[in-house]
Amino acid sequence: MRFAILAFLTLSALLYAQNEPIKPIPKKIDYDRKKAELGKLLFHDPILSKDRKVSCATCHDVKRKCGTDHRRVSVGVEGKKGKVNAPTVLNAVFNFRQFWNGRAKNLKEQALGPIHNPIEMAMTEEEVERRLNSSPMYKRLFWEAYGVREIKFEHVIDAIVEFEKALITPNSKFDRYLRGELKLSKEEMEGYELFKRLGCITCHNGVNVGGNSYQYFGAVVPVRWNPDNPDRYKITHREFDKNRYKVPTLRNIECTYPYFHDGSADTLEEAISKMSYHNLGFKLKREEVKKIVAFLKTLTGEVPEILKK
Ligand code: HEC
Ligand code: HEC
Repeated sequence: MRFAILAFLTLSALLYAQNEPIKPIPKKIDYDRKKAELGKLLFHDPILSKDRKVSCATCHDVKRKCGTDHRRVSVGVEGKKGKVNAPTVLNAVFNFRQFWNGRAKNLKEQALGPIHNPIEMAMTEEEVERRLNSSPMYKRLFWEAYGVREIKFEHVIDAIVEFEKALITPNSKFDRYLRGELKLSKEEMEGYELFKRLGCITCHNGVNVGGNSYQYFGAVVPVRWNPDNPDRYKITHREFDKNRYKVPTLRNIECTYPYFHDGSADTLEEAISKMSYHNLGFKLKREEVKKIVAFLKTLTGEVPEILKK
């Protein structure tokens, strides 16, 4: 065991030396255009909710709000208020698990959540199938994309997931810097250096600058635990997992406000200061926060191709 850890650390150190800890988003990703276009329609269609008023896009506005709703916590069918901030769906395909506490293994498992959730869309599989099968337009589109006469719930989920795969935001300024295509400004570069030097990078790294591990909120200076938290504890009921979450992505972070699982930080400045204090034990100067903001803004990418036109 000890040897394995040592070997792992040595290997990590080697890889770290060779590579930047943040990876660019691939310029293209494989997906089935026909299925994804159908998924895009479904994603925006309130037909999937009990009261026919809520669509996935109500809480994940991919066209205007970078895949979030800009609310502290989401509001679903019949105006019911949830307890959790809606994370962005942009680049969610790169997360190692879905949801704040990672309870869904992948996008497919995830999509079952909101449709059945009594607060979000409150639907049954049968009702989804009944409604879609009585629409000539959907009958035709599913025939074209899946070659089926009878629409099944699994096709609905599959189409939505295909659309979500297409929601990647490549060619951010930072990715272009990583590829050697341009230079960052002095302030952005200093922000990136701080991000690494302070240790933000230990949790926010990889393609999604997060989304690849579970970590605490309050790793150094603990925060009070609240039983409503959508943390790992909700799944495991181990003390150890209180206030432990999937690290959120920092891609497009300037536009996915408000921040944290409960939407408790309205601005990026506030989120950075709290993170730095609670997770690393540093009280940052205003100048330092400003530099990190400048760096984080370079993580804003292009509008996904499927949303253009
Ligand atoms: C009423 C608001 C609401 C609706 C409608 C809704 N979501 Fe969400 N979504 C949320 C919230 C809140 C979370 C976080 C819940 C949690 O982690 O416990 C979430 C999480 C997600 C995630 C996980 C992202 C991540 O980083 O973990 C994905 C993907 C997602 N939703 C896709 C969808 C799709 C697809 C639909 C439609 C079928 C949908 N959502 C409908 C509010 C909503
Ligand atoms: C120990 C791991 C860890 C470290 C170190 C860390 N973070 Fe985080 N970060 C997290 C976790 C976990 C969350 C989610 C917290 C929550 O929602 O309660 C988060 C959330 C955030 C958010 C809000 C994201 C959103 O969509 O709501 C920002 C911004 C952020 N971190 C920036 C930083 C910066 C800047 C630093 C360095 C000063 C940093 N983080 C250091 C783990 C870490």
